Amino acid sequence: MNYKAIVVRELPDGTFTHSIEFPELESFLPAGDVLIRVQYSSLNYKDALSFNGNKGVTKKYPHTPGIDAAGIVEESSSLLFTKGQEVIVTGFDLGMNTPGGMGEFIRVPAEWVVPLPEGLSLHEAMIIGTAGFTAAISVKKLAAQCDISSGPVVVSGATGGVGSMTVAMLAKLGYEVHAISGKETEHDFLKSLGASVIYSRDEFQQIQAKPLLPSRFAGAIDTVGGEILVNLIKSVKQEGVVTTCGSVSSIALNLTVFPFILRAVSLLGISAQNYPAEQRPSLWKLLATDFKPENLLKMYSEIQLEQVPIAVEQILKGQLKGRTVITVS
Ligand SMILES: NC(=O)c1ccc[n+]([C@@H]2O[C@H](COP(=O)([O-])OP(=O)(O)OC[C@H]3O[C@@H](n4cnc5c(N)ncnc54)[C@H](OP(=O)(O)O)[C@@H]3O)[C@@H](O)[C@H]2O)c1
Repeated sequence: MNYKAIVVRELPDGTFTHSIEFPELESFLPAGDVLIRVQYSSLNYKDALSFNGNKGVTKKYPHTPGIDAAGIVEESSSLLFTKGQEVIVTGFDLGMNTPGGMGEFIRVPAEWVVPLPEGLSLHEAMIIGTAGFTAAISVKKLAAQCDISSGPVVVSGATGGVGSMTVAMLAKLGYEVHAISGKETEHDFLKSLGASVIYSRDEFQQIQAKPLLPSRFAGAIDTVGGEILVNLIKSVKQEGVVTTCGSVSSIALNLTVFPFILRAVSLLGISAQNYPAEQRPSLWKLLATDFKPENLLKMYSEIQLEQVPIAVEQILKGQLKGRTVITVS
């Protein structure tokens, strides 16, 4: 059987091409426990890197990107899943070196698969996607050390996928949410998600010589890295918490130890890709209930596989707002 998928190929001169192809399922997909007919995928920053031939994300081409997939079980050799069941797959190796959600079928190990929780449709699961899953891990970790009475919590890259999901989740939980954004035109969007104060990205991108800055926030969820992350670590209060998940600004972290040894600041790392399989169903249940953003249906745009190349260019330039769902079949 052949199926429709985006296929990225590496040419002999080291450049990459992409097109919609109809590969043969048995030869293109790896062995695995569960064959899933993908209904929706979504676009994440990492997909854009894989799509453009970034070997740090995808070593083997030809390849179908897509770290997110939601669909229906077509075949299962695992007793955990049955034909016709609605399921979600995010992270692990999906879309990295395993053909991903930007194709009509994926075949994956049973441990990667999560049953769709009650309270979410497949479509909503992909509005959330890895970005929302990452936001949920970050919010859960922050909330364990910083409750809603602690003071404002600030989110960077706030109009992006992870950032917008984080703003909406924190607001739903009752936090005073501040946002940092480079998009002057999207303040109304951020306010509609629940941000009460919005700062310009420029303000937080300045290099500050001082090892500590005035303490302004109880916590921070950073999605961009670099100087913004440095300034957030220097600006949280005594016992404050900062989470770090992204590097769109920079991978560098130019700091002294003073925020940690004088203000007892905690810096918490986030890895959605390697989040333990056994804890995933309960996090997805939270995403279907307490963490489910109120304005989920206003937080996304929808595209077809044919429109992925344009959306990839936009996400790499930091121009996308909220989430991008891909209708696959
Ligand atoms: N660790 C993990 O498990 C994990 C999981 C998912 C994603 N990530 C990472 O998290 C980051 C965000 O992912 P995403 O899917 O949310 O991407 P995204 O949708 O492109 O959002 C990133 C946002 O960052 C801001 N931004 C863009 N370029 C910037 C720059 N040069 N300097 C500072 N800010 C900039 C923009 O928001 P504003 O215009 O509002 O400032 C942009 O919308 C990526 O690095 C991604 O790889 C990590």
